[in-house]
Amino acid sequence: MTDVLTPVLTDDWDAAQSWKLATYESRGGYGALKKALGMNQDDIITAVKDSGLRGRGGAGFPTGMKWSFIPQDNPKPKYLVVNADESEPGTCKDIPLMMATPHTLVEGVAISSYAIRANKAFIYIRGEVLHVIRRVQAAVAEAYEAGHLGKNIHGSGYDLDIVVHAGAGAYICGEETALLEGLEGRRGQPRLRPPFPAVAGLYASPTVINNVESIASVPSIIAHGAEWFASMGTEKSKGYGIFSLSGHVANPCQYEAPLGITLRKLIELAGGIRAGHELKFWTPGGSSTPLLTADHLDIPLDFEGVSGAGSMLGTRALQIFDETTCVVRAVLRWTEFYKHESCGKCTPCREGTWWLTQTLTRLEKGQGTPGDLDLLLDQCENILGRSFCALGDGATSPISSSIQYFREEYLAHLEHGGCPFDPLASTAFAIEGANA
Ligand SMILES: Cc1cc2nc3c(=O)[nH]c(=O)nc-3n(C[C@H](O)[C@H](O)[C@H](O)COP(=O)(O)O)c2cc1C
Ligand code: SF4
Repeated sequence: MTDVLTPVLTDDWDAAQSWKLATYESRGGYGALKKALGMNQDDIITAVKDSGLRGRGGAGFPTGMKWSFIPQDNPKPKYLVVNADESEPGTCKDIPLMMATPHTLVEGVAISSYAIRANKAFIYIRGEVLHVIRRVQAAVAEAYEAGHLGKNIHGSGYDLDIVVHAGAGAYICGEETALLEGLEGRRGQPRLRPPFPAVAGLYASPTVINNVESIASVPSIIAHGAEWFASMGTEKSKGYGIFSLSGHVANPCQYEAPLGITLRKLIELAGGIRAGHELKFWTPGGSSTPLLTADHLDIPLDFEGVSGAGSMLGTRALQIFDETTCVVRAVLRWTEFYKHESCGKCTPCREGTWWLTQTLTRLEKGQGTPGDLDLLLDQCENILGRSFCALGDGATSPISSSIQYFREEYLAHLEHGGCPFDPLASTAFAIEGANA
């Protein structure tokens, strides 16, 4: 069973006091930083490029390439910003990682900052997870004490300061430019691009923004080499990643595996769908990624495989729903989330998410008409590709994909005058009726 797993980031999660510097160092921690400090910075960027590491925050942009966009002839200070906002529904990998082994992230920050010639780095953590903020703060303090951070790190002449910043709790602050606005003390709303953060990011200075898991993967690449990392995964999606299975499986858990593993295998590792039930639908990478069904159990979970099936790998937040779940109700809940979290900057998303919830609520209560399905799709079409940032696009994903796979179930709500899954409804809904 374990030979399909590749525990690297999660390897120490069950060690006693895994979050402590002493534990991390006893397992070779900060060895990669010492090695990196003896390397040329451009060679580190090349190693990360050669490893094929792609951003683990959702979009999958090549990390080494992003670093190479930093204009080194720009006299302004360079910054590294770690996106630890993790607010996408279903996503639960960065927060456990920071709780269990915060030093993996701190070491990754030190190596990455050195590579892009930044002397200041920020870790932006969502404000609600106070226990995680405290843990990362404690790890940073330990690292300073041990000389892994601060002035003249290990006699290399390189200086680095890390600021742990608590966000104020908004999903949009995970969008990288809204995050920068928040860091600068303004309301978290996305910025117009260009200029891109690599050219004018934090305080209008060249800035790299990377996800927690992307940065935490860097020490292992430096320690074991680009080839080692690239030997895992698939042709265009290299390495390993944390797959978070939640919902109706026997053992919801984080499973670290090479990209390209299938959901069928992951469900097997998770002990199967909960006893007596069967898979109905799932999200590959959080609620912003179009739903998939039992027909997609064998697609490779890499960037290309999931997009080939009409969805997105996103953050590998695999939310699993069995046949007891009303897809219309689930989609309505997600849409209410997007409406609540819309920052209001652009009309298609601000107004559109409001209209989506109105139409969906009507349908869920069985009070709409079959024409409401076309209305919903029309509303989605007016948001998708017309919004200022990807939050608007993401809000349409669960709706259009659920209509694609479960149109019958929407219609059943109208026929039954309410949710057919509700035990109090007049007639139980025939599950076979869903065109999943
Ligand atoms: C609405 C929205 C929320 C996002 N939330 C996060 C988040 O919580 N964490 C994250 O790393 N990226 C998030 N992203 C993606 C970031 O904008 C950015 O692509 C990412 O931090 C880049 O890091 P990576 O290249 O290492 O993946 C979000 C994007 C959008 C549009
Ligand atoms: S798409 Fe939504 S979240 Fe993004 S800028 Fe527009 S209103 Fe704000």
